[in-house]
Amino acid sequence: MKKIGVLTSGGDAPGMNAAIRAVVRTCAYNNIQSYGICEGYKGLINGKIHPIESRGVSNIIQRGGTILKSSRSEEFYTPEGRKKAFKNILQHDLDGIIAIGGDGTFSGAAIFNKEFNIPFVGIPGTIDNDLFGTDFTIGYDTALNTVVEAVDKIRDTASSHNRLFIVEVMGRDAGFIALRSGIGVGAEAILIPEETTYINQLIDKLEGDRNGRKSSMIVIVAEGDELGGAYEVAKKVTEKCPKYDSRVTVLGHIQRGGNPTAMDRVLASRMGNAAVNSLLEGKSNVMIGIVNKEVIYTSFENAIKHHDKLNMNLMNLAEVLSC
Ligand code: F6P
Repeated sequence: MKKIGVLTSGGDAPGMNAAIRAVVRTCAYNNIQSYGICEGYKGLINGKIHPIESRGVSNIIQRGGTILKSSRSEEFYTPEGRKKAFKNILQHDLDGIIAIGGDGTFSGAAIFNKEFNIPFVGIPGTIDNDLFGTDFTIGYDTALNTVVEAVDKIRDTASSHNRLFIVEVMGRDAGFIALRSGIGVGAEAILIPEETTYINQLIDKLEGDRNGRKSSMIVIVAEGDELGGAYEVAKKVTEKCPKYDSRVTVLGHIQRGGNPTAMDRVLASRMGNAAVNSLLEGKSNVMIGIVNKEVIYTSFENAIKHHDKLNMNLMNLAEVLSC
């Protein structure tokens, strides 16, 4: 390994910069030249590849977003697109690629590796935390803290007006953000895609809380919940219970930005370092993960296929603690 490329792909996540820094610095430490590939797979196809030196990643560990920029590339899912990407890899003589992203990033990497046998190593960077083979993904902790900070503020106004707030958080296919943030803010109910939501059950719960004289109620809804987003849930609740003074907040993309927490910086630093070491040891086509504090390797196929399961004990905990 003399030259290693690094890219960020899919939805950006706080801590991606810390991971890029760790990759570049670990390469420099081992006398390997690193190359930044801009705009994810789109940049690989368009040849947006340039060398990065150790000092080129100064002062980025604390910054959200990604200095390499990101994209969701449709073209990479076509054989023609991947051929162009392969040509650019050959042109720059890259011996391996480190891809920081989520499930879409790793399915692209797995196909590419099969076709062209270029060593790829993945680093899980997504606020969704929906990958198998790691306790936490980079960006999840920061996103949780962003949600908790916002909902604490909502709670102030909700209790001043005895209101019900339906708050929508990110998570198209996964309820990880909703679940832990819901516990963190003491939500009265948490609606996630992994569990069927029955509107009557939700109303019963809220009615119970109302009779128990709660001055405010917060329902956290993951955007992928099958009842619909927060507006849809609010509509259904108020159709059945018009007496509720309810409001909706959709937190949206603020969950993807901001300075990474210390937890995310350390996680990203460890994973970036482990990704380079993995290529040096000849382990490729794997995603780096940290499970029970130890670095582990999971094949791309498994990381994507076995979407990490939600810990349903946490759902029970939320239920018990909101009585
Ligand atoms: O994958 C991360 C994520 O933030 C999801 O939670 C969300 O559904 C999606 O990306 C939004 O993507 P985009 O910014 O492309 O609309």
